[in-house]
Amino acid sequence: MSETNDHERRPVIAGNWKMNPRDLESAGDLAEGIASKLGYDEIVDKDVIVIPPTPFISDVSQILELSNIQVGAQAMSPENGGAHTGEVSGKMLKSVGATHVLAGHSERRTGGETDVMVNAQVRTALDQSLRPILCVGEELNVREAGDAVHTVCAQVAAGLKGVTAEQMTEVIVAYEPVWAIGTGMTASPEDAGSMTESIRDQISLLYGEDVAQATRILYGGSVKPSNIGELMKQKDVDGALVGGASLKAESFEGLVKGF
Ligand code: PGA
Repeated sequence: MSETNDHERRPVIAGNWKMNPRDLESAGDLAEGIASKLGYDEIVDKDVIVIPPTPFISDVSQILELSNIQVGAQAMSPENGGAHTGEVSGKMLKSVGATHVLAGHSERRTGGETDVMVNAQVRTALDQSLRPILCVGEELNVREAGDAVHTVCAQVAAGLKGVTAEQMTEVIVAYEPVWAIGTGMTASPEDAGSMTESIRDQISLLYGEDVAQATRILYGGSVKPSNIGELMKQKDVDGALVGGASLKAESFEGLVKGF
């Protein structure tokens, strides 16, 4: 395999808006700004996804209807419906325009989501034809103790439990070291490259080399227009999951066009 990434796998740039912007009007402005900067023909060779807060998904989807920018959700219930106050099902998300859903973002794992819950979300998402973006990543103390690869690969295996090789075509994995999220401390391209390679090896162990080679693996953690190019050169980095730098249309444009 080549040392640098010639993007045999279709790249993915996903903007995780987290709990931003503050209201529907600003979310609409951001979506319109992004749509005006990323013309349909400019992004035919990449998957570009914006991931707004749940209440804005419907409007953002409508604004982006004529673009080829896709819309995702930040979380979903592992349940299909019923008496689960405050929860949102995959089917609901799909009905308002979501095509993807994050599962196991570290900010939610920190809030109490376990590997078992993340796995249930991944499987329910697949059952409901939503594409899960399975987020994995180690804390700083784990990296310093030399346990990062083991921890991340265990998260991958746990998150994918019960997922079939056929379903893997719909799954995206995002490596987001917890210490790099929102801190400005990006993993070095080499560290991002070596962990994404380990993740691909883990997928190969679980599903075989063909599935592993076809799976898109993203890096996330303080990705900006200025560093995306170096990260994307890593042979196993197929895209980026971006928080802060996805919240301005110019900056999101810079990410999408930056490699
Ligand atoms: P960041 O967030 O780009 O602001 O570090 C990444 C993420 O949490 O997905």
